[in-house]
Amino acid sequence: MEITAIHEFTVKIIHEAGERIRQSLSEKLEIETKANANDLVTNIDRETELFFIEQIHAYDPAFKILGEEGMGEPLESLDGVVWIIDPIDGTMNFIRQHRNFAISIGIYVDGIGKLGYIYDVMRNDLYYAVEGQGAYMNDRQLERLQSLPLHEAIIGINATWVTPNRYIDHNKIIDLVHHVRGTRSYGSATLEIASVVCGRMDAYMSMRLSPWDIAGGAVIANEVGAIVSNLGNEAINLEEQDTFIIANPKIHKTIIEQYVHLK
Ligand code: IPD
Ligand code: CA
Ligand code: CA
Ligand code: CA
Repeated sequence: MEITAIHEFTVKIIHEAGERIRQSLSEKLEIETKANANDLVTNIDRETELFFIEQIHAYDPAFKILGEEGMGEPLESLDGVVWIIDPIDGTMNFIRQHRNFAISIGIYVDGIGKLGYIYDVMRNDLYYAVEGQGAYMNDRQLERLQSLPLHEAIIGINATWVTPNRYIDHNKIIDLVHHVRGTRSYGSATLEIASVVCGRMDAYMSMRLSPWDIAGGAVIANEVGAIVSNLGNEAINLEEQDTFIIANPKIHKTIIEQYVHLK
């Protein structure tokens, strides 16, 4: 696989898709719900995914594609070259805020992450990495993460951590929130992952993410020394939904072992 050529092609189609999405904000969106009333999808999520599938298959019909909106073929395995795509991550932000949403792409070969992209569409910031060649935000190479103690950390968690659920011990999460320097919630998993790889935030965790939420970010994470895993400290799974954490290496284990406490 010609990595440099695929990287240049991917950057080009991400920028083209981003421009189409920005243009779409001046038109009326068609909004539908999926699994529940707050699980939204628009015609632009679907059109963007279709745009990627058409472009990628025109480039090489052998490439396999897993996209959130299911516009491609069902994926049977991670064998070969697999593109894992979230056409718009943060659809609710896209609809309501017209900002704070991203395009995310991870390109894997036989399950190994080779190229990762998170594109903040409205800020025109592209976070990306090529395996073994470092990670970048636009033209700037990202530094490896500096170690820091948990009490100086900013962590990304959302309101699901304070609603009753079968996974966690709430008192532990309250302890964690008291212990850290601050918490943030942006409503786009990929942009939260981007914040961690840049060192603007030190951890982000979720009780349920899908492969397309994490595939691109995991490749970038490896290049800056951020640790990604599920909340049981096992390797991420790119074929199913799972819990997720990305964190500075200094605090990853501490958060899992001392605070998350999956029941
Ligand atoms: C969602 C966002 C959100 C996260 C959800 C994701 P979508 O992705 O990343 O921040 O909390 O779990 O499903 O549906 O907007 O692509
Ligand atoms: Ca969605
Ligand atoms: Ca999405
Ligand atoms: Ca998503």
